[in-house]
Amino acid sequence: MAKVYSYDEVSKHNTRESCWVVLYGNVYDVTSFLSEHPGGPKIILSLAGKDATEEYDPIHPPGILEESLPAEAKLGKFDEATLPSEEKSPAQEQAGELEGPPDLESLLNLDDIEEVATKQISHKAWAYYYSAADDLHSKQLNNSAYRQILLRPRVFVDCTNCDTSTTLLGNKVNIPIYVSPAAMARLANPDGEWGIAQACAKFGALQLISNNASMTPEQIVKDARPEQSFGWQLYVQTDRKKSEAMLARIAKLPQIKFICLTLDAPVPGKREHDEKSKNVGSNLPVRSAIQDGSASSTSPDPKDATAGQSKEGGESSGGVGRALFMGTAPDLTWKTTLPWLAQHTKLPIVLKGLQTHEDAYLASLHAPQVKGIILSNHGGRAMDTAPPAVHTLLEIRKYCPEVFDKIEVWVDGGIKRGTDVVKALALGAKGVGVGRAALFGLGASGKEGVARVLEILKAETETAMRLLGVERIEQLGLQHVNIRAIERDLYDGPANLDKPSLWENVRSKL
Ligand code: LAC
Repeated sequence: MAKVYSYDEVSKHNTRESCWVVLYGNVYDVTSFLSEHPGGPKIILSLAGKDATEEYDPIHPPGILEESLPAEAKLGKFDEATLPSEEKSPAQEQAGELEGPPDLESLLNLDDIEEVATKQISHKAWAYYYSAADDLHSKQLNNSAYRQILLRPRVFVDCTNCDTSTTLLGNKVNIPIYVSPAAMARLANPDGEWGIAQACAKFGALQLISNNASMTPEQIVKDARPEQSFGWQLYVQTDRKKSEAMLARIAKLPQIKFICLTLDAPVPGKREHDEKSKNVGSNLPVRSAIQDGSASSTSPDPKDATAGQSKEGGESSGGVGRALFMGTAPDLTWKTTLPWLAQHTKLPIVLKGLQTHEDAYLASLHAPQVKGIILSNHGGRAMDTAPPAVHTLLEIRKYCPEVFDKIEVWVDGGIKRGTDVVKALALGAKGVGVGRAALFGLGASGKEGVARVLEILKAETETAMRLLGVERIEQLGLQHVNIRAIERDLYDGPANLDKPSLWENVRSKL
């Protein structure tokens, strides 16, 4: 029979020399694992001698505990009854006080869902999801830019039928709305990225899996329907071998149809909500091996961290975001990274985070390896005052519309309404991504909450299409939008598409 340990016995083992933690009601001796922990020893030591489940669970893929620790590390059971009352976790104390699940039908739009989620998820999770760079200007503009575009409804058109199906990189989808690769879904709800996949299955939507997902890719696609498609986001790691191992692992999952190489955040922006949240509630989370881009457990190299931004062990001063960015390579280039990627994956590449027509044009020169681009300013989380995707979309139309014929152009950021979706599509986007909305849906009500987000957006998109007199996605076009109000704000300088000027800014990095 497993030995049962009391609180007094466990709490003595709170040093580097002897470090025990309680996880899921079991007592583990993690002393020898301290130096191997991908997130560093500090965070474990801050929980030494305590129940670490609340901190551990949302950020570690299920099953990784068994993979990482030898069987003998599991010492026995923990006797919860011996916990002194001041050690009861806020979650235990709140239990019973929480309201029941929300009535999803009564949540009518994405703001309603965010409001409910904000009340339900931890402050730390909220601050990480909500946060954006500096003054949140780009985050807000991402949304308000859509409001400046006016629609041009046509009347006297039979709008009985409406079909939102389309293809994304040749994969059939029932809606043009996809879920962007947003990190750490289990901070919102234990359904996590698997729950997002379940909701996407229901609506025939594409899901991009975050490199910083809180579940393994295998767990996320496990119950996917045969027709369901996924992309996998790659944040190239300074230790390229970790990314290469991950690409090899992704190659074994036929559900994953492409690699989405993220370029808009080689370093994270300054996210003050996220930074401040470390002072509220529990400890900062840490990276687990899966977020490292590798299944192996290795110590972090402090040199890997973006210079001066993260301290040892992921216990950075910069909140969840900066901890996640440890080890992310800041040295990617057009000339070096795409050939490297060609050696390690046969999957098509989608480049995410383009914010100028010059970069969109450069990407189009890399077709057919590059099959698509995502115009994105990373939800306003990287460079504040960077343009919203819809501006970049219009910039491409103005300077190099041939890009649309060579590669697919998708957008994300600021989408809150079906009218936003049809505006992006009318301007030439093939797919429209939602990141925070899916996470807030998850926070509001697990997989059903994400399904409600997709249901609302699909219904609103159908209404907008009908009122425009459009039956199918491909019928949407420039005739449906009036963009005069945002034309003033678009880039108006030289095209820079002749060879010397195209490469001017990037030459030094080649
Ligand atoms: C973020 C990264 C992890 O924006 O994508 O937080």
